[in-house]
Amino acid sequence: MEQTFPPLKNDLLLRAARGEQTERAPVWVMRQAGRYLPEFRETRKDHEFFEMCRTPELATEVTLQPIRRYKGLVDAAIIFSDILVIPQAMGMEVLMNPGPFFPDPLDTPSDVSKLSPTVDVDKELGYVFKAITRTRTMLEGDVPLIGFCGAPWTLMGYMIEGGSSKTLQKAKTWLFKYPEESNALLFRIADICVDYLVGQVKAGAQLLQVFDSNAGDLSPYDFITFSLPTLKHIASKLRERLTSQSLPSVPLTLFAKGASPTLAARAGFDTIGLDWTVDPRDVASLPVEVALQGNLDPSVLFGGREAIEREVCRMSQAFLAARGGVCRGWIANLGHGITPGVEPDDLKFFFECVHKYSSPGSKAMP
Ligand code: CP3
Repeated sequence: MEQTFPPLKNDLLLRAARGEQTERAPVWVMRQAGRYLPEFRETRKDHEFFEMCRTPELATEVTLQPIRRYKGLVDAAIIFSDILVIPQAMGMEVLMNPGPFFPDPLDTPSDVSKLSPTVDVDKELGYVFKAITRTRTMLEGDVPLIGFCGAPWTLMGYMIEGGSSKTLQKAKTWLFKYPEESNALLFRIADICVDYLVGQVKAGAQLLQVFDSNAGDLSPYDFITFSLPTLKHIASKLRERLTSQSLPSVPLTLFAKGASPTLAARAGFDTIGLDWTVDPRDVASLPVEVALQGNLDPSVLFGGREAIEREVCRMSQAFLAARGGVCRGWIANLGHGITPGVEPDDLKFFFECVHKYSSPGSKAMP
């Protein structure tokens, strides 16, 4: 059973994620615990990145930093961690210097035998569960806490490429040269994702997001062939496990960056994240029960106040239009993570603009 936590005072995010109408759009940003915040950089200068992930006190501290700074303006916390903790749990070494680096990536399918045959998530990733429980307690119900993991395709990409890659040439070579072995690895990762996400809910996560950040590198056919089946598997197995263990049936978000939203919606998640290349009006044909999240171009935050206000207003009008003129099933966010270099007060202004423009009947374009 779930543990007891302080009652939630702001459930806007959870209502929007369930496709309900809200008085305004809930808002948070991906990477909101990150290097654009001076208080994050201050904590980070004394600790390695994965040391911060592995130390519940530090992970909680940086998760709460944006919640304190933007109190009353931001509607969710996301646990500070990284998608690459799953490859680590599978036995791979991952460093962050400054981007992700795997000293010994998977080269050919025979390298899969180097991975741990089974992964006990409580043992390998218990530190994340501890950080979640601690953070949820310390949030005192102010806003809900989001848990997350990487999608199998995105994680497999890092495990094969050994870091970030522009073309994902090696990982895609696997798909075309070794489709069966690729599929086996993808489903092996998917099963760990399920165990890991169940553990996060048990620990206190109130919504879960799966990041398929590399989805857009696949053709629609390859997304359907390789990624989508693993995402469907995660959504369905996860729901089954939450029900059978009497855990809360938390809403699920899929952020498949660059993938067609109509294809992503087939995975069976409650909310589909949109990147900034999508016009919300173009997904108006999705059922209204499917919530949408997004999708301001993160670079707008470098454009100054006038641009931020104008673009938030434009985005709001598009999401409201997509939902028949009401604020229904929309979670405001950026179309990808916030980047270092953003002025924290400009993010504050972004939040204020969402509050101002996301309710129907709000003033016209400035
Ligand atoms: O959103 C949040 O605030 C929660 C924390 C979070 C981090 N990474 C912290 C982080 C989340 C949700 C992630 C997810 C993640 N990690 C993704 C999926 C989202 C996306 O951006 O597409 C990916 C692909 C990764 C892998 C990763 N981690 C990369 C490619 C990098 C380097 C790029 C960069 O931004 O520097 C990281 C590092 C990372 N993860 C940082 C943070 C705050 C910065 C590292 C630092 O502090 O030095």
